[in-house]
Amino acid sequence: MKKTLLGLTTAAILSFSMAVQAAPIKLKFSHVVAENTPKGQMAIEFKKLVAERLKGKVEVEIYPNGQLFGDNKVLEALLLGDVQLASPSLSKFKKYTKKLQVFDLPFLFDDMAAAERFQSSDAGQALLKSVEKKGLIGLGYMHNGMKQMSASKPLHVPADAKGLKFRIMSSDVLSAQFKAVGATPLKKPYSEVFTLLQTKAIDGQENTWSNIHSKKFYEVQDNITSSDHGLLDYMVVTSAEFWNGLDADVRTELKKALDEAVVLGNKVAAEKSMSDKQAIIDSKRTNVIELSKEERQKWKDAMKPVWKEFEDIVGKDLLAAAIAANKE
Ligand code: SIN
Repeated sequence: MKKTLLGLTTAAILSFSMAVQAAPIKLKFSHVVAENTPKGQMAIEFKKLVAERLKGKVEVEIYPNGQLFGDNKVLEALLLGDVQLASPSLSKFKKYTKKLQVFDLPFLFDDMAAAERFQSSDAGQALLKSVEKKGLIGLGYMHNGMKQMSASKPLHVPADAKGLKFRIMSSDVLSAQFKAVGATPLKKPYSEVFTLLQTKAIDGQENTWSNIHSKKFYEVQDNITSSDHGLLDYMVVTSAEFWNGLDADVRTELKKALDEAVVLGNKVAAEKSMSDKQAIIDSKRTNVIELSKEERQKWKDAMKPVWKEFEDIVGKDLLAAAIAANKE
């Protein structure tokens, strides 16, 4: 009896441990935007590819709209192992590296092609490693697009922004950018922006067309200036502990799936920067302002001194490499 009991126990332990070994790795992907955005679509594509290629080995769970963590908390959550993948805006890495602030400099990139060239360059690729000392691994960049400014009053020239309160992401460069035009910047989580605008606790914000559209900011802002004054892109990140703990073949497949999902996300970003702008215009809920060449130049002149303020922080060489990316 004793022997049988012991035998059963051993068998039970064995089958339990086999079940534990066979359980797929759960990969939680947390982000703050809606599913019908470039990042939301990228996450869905990634989950689909992983389900096809790593069935039974890895299972992706997506938590959009900041359901699990806001962007200011998600990097800590990665390090604690509460999530395994995130792709915060490059403006949200200040606690982990100052170098990425180069991406926030106003009017730095002439267009998305220039941003892409810089990200693919040696200098841009080296920046992915700038978070490694803090236990994070930058797996790649992803585009959202150029930012626009929205406000309760029409913004044609920098003087129009004077005295207004603008929500910004948690970046000191963005803070300096709004101070340069006499406005008051307020660092607030993305999840609070709609309510802050609706209740008029703030006067304006800056964001991409897809974020303004998907989160309905245009319904609570009377004016949007098509300014293309800055970049909102992402870094896809994981923790070194999680990533290095994976089997090499799983890691290779995950990276491949991610790269392919990012290609799709970038395509969605390029399409949405036009279609979401048009949808906002067509809604007639807000006044979309196109700047003249002279007006845009005035914004540039007012905001560009911020480069000097941050050149030692981001590094002169890095800044020069980013500027150089504007020329093919
Ligand atoms: C995002 O696109 O991930 C959010 C951007 C923001 O916080 O404004």
